[in-house]
Amino acid sequence: MLKTVVCVSGGGTNLQAVIDGIGQGTITNVKIVRVISNNRKAYALERAKQAGIEAVCVSPKEYEERAQFQQAFLRAVEEAEPDLIVLAGFLVVIPPELIRRYENRIINIHPSLIPSFSGTGYYGLKVHEAALARGVKITGATVHFVDEGTDTGPILMQEPVPVQEGDTPEILQKRVMEKAEWVILPKCLDLIANGRVTVTDGQVHISE
Ligand code: GRF
Repeated sequence: MLKTVVCVSGGGTNLQAVIDGIGQGTITNVKIVRVISNNRKAYALERAKQAGIEAVCVSPKEYEERAQFQQAFLRAVEEAEPDLIVLAGFLVVIPPELIRRYENRIINIHPSLIPSFSGTGYYGLKVHEAALARGVKITGATVHFVDEGTDTGPILMQEPVPVQEGDTPEILQKRVMEKAEWVILPKCLDLIANGRVTVTDGQVHISE
C-alpha cells in the first residue's frame, strides 16, 4: 500500500479526483494518510474530512520566521511516514530538505505542458492567461517529479487540451482540469503505487 500525503492550498478538485479514483478502484494500492494545507480556509481540507482523511493545516501566518513554518511543515509530513507526497494545487515552496529526503517521491500537477508557462509566477489562472496571451492552440497539464527547481523535475505524464475560440482563462482552466489534471494525476498515482514508474538520469520510464 502506497502511503500518500497530499498537500493542498485551494479548492481541492485534484485531491477529490484522487479520493474518487481510490473509491472507484481506478487507483489501486494507494492510501491517503494525511492531507496538509497551508491555508486554513482551503475547501480541500473539508473534502478530506468528508472522506474521513486526517486534515492538517500548517499556516505560515502562525509562525514568525519562515524557517519555523518550514520545520512545522516538515514535521507534519514526516509524522505521516508517507511513501509518496502529492502536491495538488499546493502554492508553497517545498523546503529543500524535504526534496532531498524524498528524491523522486514528490509529484506535482501543473496546469500546462511543461516547459511552457511554468516556473516562478506561473500558477492557477496565471498559467491560462499566459497561454491565451501567447495564442497557443494546444495546452494541457503535466505531472512531474519535484526537484529543487520550480516545475523543473522529471516529467511523468502529460495530457494535451485544445484551446478554443472565445476561451477565457476560467473556461480554459476548467477544461484543463476536467480533461487533463483530473485524468493524469490519478493515473500517475496508480502507476507509482503498482511499481511501474522508474526515474533514470532525469528521464521517467513507465513499464508495461
Ligand atoms: C488549479 O489551478 C490546478 O490547475 C493547479 O492548482 C489549482 C487548484 O487546484 N494544480 P485544486 O482544485 O485545488 O486541485
